[in-house]
Parts: sequence; structure tokens; C-alpha cells
Amino acid sequence: AEAALSDGPLKGKRVIVTSGPTQEPIDPVRYISNRSSGAQGTAIGKALVALGAEVVFVTGPADVPPPEGVQVVRVETAVQMLDAVQAALPADAAVFAAAVADWRVAQAASSKMKKEKGEIPTLSFAENPDILATVSQMTKGRPPLVVGFAAETDNVIAHATAKRLRKGCDWIVANDVSPATGTFGGTQNTVHVISDDGVEDWPKMAKDAVAERLAQRIAGALVG
Ligand code: CTP
Ligand code: CA
Repeated sequence: AEAALSDGPLKGKRVIVTSGPTQEPIDPVRYISNRSSGAQGTAIGKALVALGAEVVFVTGPADVPPPEGVQVVRVETAVQMLDAVQAALPADAAVFAAAVADWRVAQAASSKMKKEKGEIPTLSFAENPDILATVSQMTKGRPPLVVGFAAETDNVIAHATAKRLRKGCDWIVANDVSPATGTFGGTQNTVHVISDDGVEDWPKMAKDAVAERLAQRIAGALVG
């Protein structure tokens, strides 16, 4: 790890990566969550380390272990993820690959909800903080490069282009996650990188290859 940190184009650069799903408690034994293995975020962390970056890897409960050589910060909820990201600043870049739950249960129960009461519970929700938008819109200490993801099931480019402008990030990596594409749980991904320069279509490739190409692009932007 020391040798890896000492060379590579991202030597001396600090990058925050979010990865995996968040879990929002309903009660002590139940939660709502998003579908995410953590594979893409983990591959990005690994690729950034390989280029010499110092990586703070903020991860929800993922299926895959975090990459080697990163500083791992484990969280469960979106609120905890935002706190961890803010605590990790300042950074030269931030890559938000986590599948953050958009809503949390407004009042999680402190004891287990029991069905023997005979009532079917009704959950009410509160909106979670948008970590990508919060960091993108920081007026002081914003990382010079902020990268978001947009997992869409239709009108991928249109939705992702609008999302980039709405949130204020520099790049959006858009992908089609319709069930037919097999992206979730699969090893391949077809992405489009949207920036001020327009839309770049990348061919279908392994998630590891997407990560390596993205890390190279980040190095190009930070180091020139
Ligand atoms: N994101 C985030 N915090 C949230 C929600 C999303 O940081 N509370 C980030 C994701 O990590 C991703 C990007 O925002 O990089 C887009 O997430 P997505 O769920 O596609 O966007 P939303 O604005 O939540 O829109 P949608 O209604 O399509 O879910
Ligand atoms: Ca969302």
C-alpha cells in the first residue's frame, strides 16, 4: 500500500468515495434499503488507489468487501453517510456511487413492532438529505471535482442531464438499470459520462473497467 501511495498520477490527492446502499431502520430488526451490491463503488475505490490517491471510502452495508488500501468509514443510514462525508472533507474530488435511500421512516420504533397486536402498520416517511447535492452546492470548501451517478430505467440521458444540473455536480455517470440489462448484481455496465463538454458514451464493459477509465478521467481532470 505504501508503494502504491507513493506513485501514480493521483499521488497526494484525496478522494472521497461513497458506496453501497444505505439502510433506514423501521424498528430494531427491520429496515428499508436500495438495491446495491457496492460493486461499482468498490471498483472505483480500488482504481483510485491504484493511481496513487488517498481514498476515504464511506460505505453502507454492501455485499462485497471494501477495497484494500482505502480508509473505510462504515455507516448505515443516509444521515450518517452525509455526516461521514462532511467529516472527511476537504478533498480534491468526491465520487458518489452510493445508492442512498431517498426516504427514511419518520419515526423508527425503538422496540420491535409485534404483529400479535393485529394491526397492519402504516409507515410515514421523511426525505433524506441529498449528499451529492449538498456537497455540490457547498459555497466554501467544495471539492474541485464532484462526480455523481444516475441509475435510470428509461430516458437515461435526459434524466441524467437534468439531474446533473439540478444537483450541481461536475460529472454524472449515467447508466441503464432496467432489469433486462442485468446491471444489478452483474459484472458489466454500460455508462454515459455527462459533463459540461456533453455526453460521452462508453461501450459495455466490466464494472472494473468502467472504474479504471473513470479513475483515469479523474486523474486527467485533477492533474491535467
Ligand atoms: N445521492 C445522494 N444522496 C441522496 C440521493 C442520491 O448522494 N440522498 C446521489 C447518489 O449517490 C448518486 C446521485 O445522487 O450519485 C443520483 O442518485 P439518484 O437516486 O439517481 O438521484 P435522485 O436525485 O435521488 O433521483 P431519483 O428520484 O431518480 O431517485
Ligand atoms: Ca434516489
